[in-house]
Amino acid sequence: MRRPIIAGNWKMHKTSAEARRLITDLKQLVGGAQVEVVVCPPFTALAAAVAAAAGSNISVGAQDIFWEDEGAYTGEISGPMLKELGCRYCIIGHSERRQYFGETNATVKKKVQAAFRSELTPIVCVGETLAEREAGQTLEVCRRQVEEGLGDLTPEQVARLVVAYEPVWAIGTGKNATGEDAQEAIGYIRERLAAMYGREAADKCRIQYGGSVKPENIAEFMARPDIDGALVGGASLDPISFAAIVNTAAED
Ligand code: 13P
Repeated sequence: MRRPIIAGNWKMHKTSAEARRLITDLKQLVGGAQVEVVVCPPFTALAAAVAAAAGSNISVGAQDIFWEDEGAYTGEISGPMLKELGCRYCIIGHSERRQYFGETNATVKKKVQAAFRSELTPIVCVGETLAEREAGQTLEVCRRQVEEGLGDLTPEQVARLVVAYEPVWAIGTGKNATGEDAQEAIGYIRERLAAMYGREAADKCRIQYGGSVKPENIAEFMARPDIDGALVGGASLDPISFAAIVNTAAED
């Protein structure tokens, strides 16, 4: 039985003071939820977020990681640094990083290895663009991202991994995928993982849907057999809407 996981990707929003306030409010609202709750603030607010979340069931994740543990890489942040701060998760390969910062399946793969080296759980994002969907390439794009970005892992690592299927056209547009479309892609991703690492590991891997998730549509995704939660952008910036998503997912 996979434990659902709802993660909030705050992107480039919230100062440390704002992070502290949001998490303090969130703690009151998601008390005993039966789902794993993760917040991913910007690097600068991670320490404040970890302190604010202490003693609650809210975990903290970073939005990126560099693939080396230390060295002359100006501006980068490594796994040991994130681990020391108290992070447990790390988003890798978000479509905005692929689009604006040149990330590829090859860099995703190196970052996934780095996260596991530092005992951080990667949340690896995959998903097609609108042009790719319209060209009927959705599953092919997901296949490549999974095979190239998630190669050379052990079955044990795959069992701990989180994958987020985020169709690029659904991110920040208010236009979410249907539960049926998301299930099709996510079921396919699980089959690819089973082909690569065995059924047992693939069945343990949690796969989220992301893209315009709101309190009103989370149930549609949670009802699908292969969807284990959500990666939430905009709606995670408000404690009431994020808590509503978490608590609805917990009812499922
Ligand atoms: P929105 O929920 O704002 O569409 O963002 C989704 C996302 O990119 C989460 O990583």
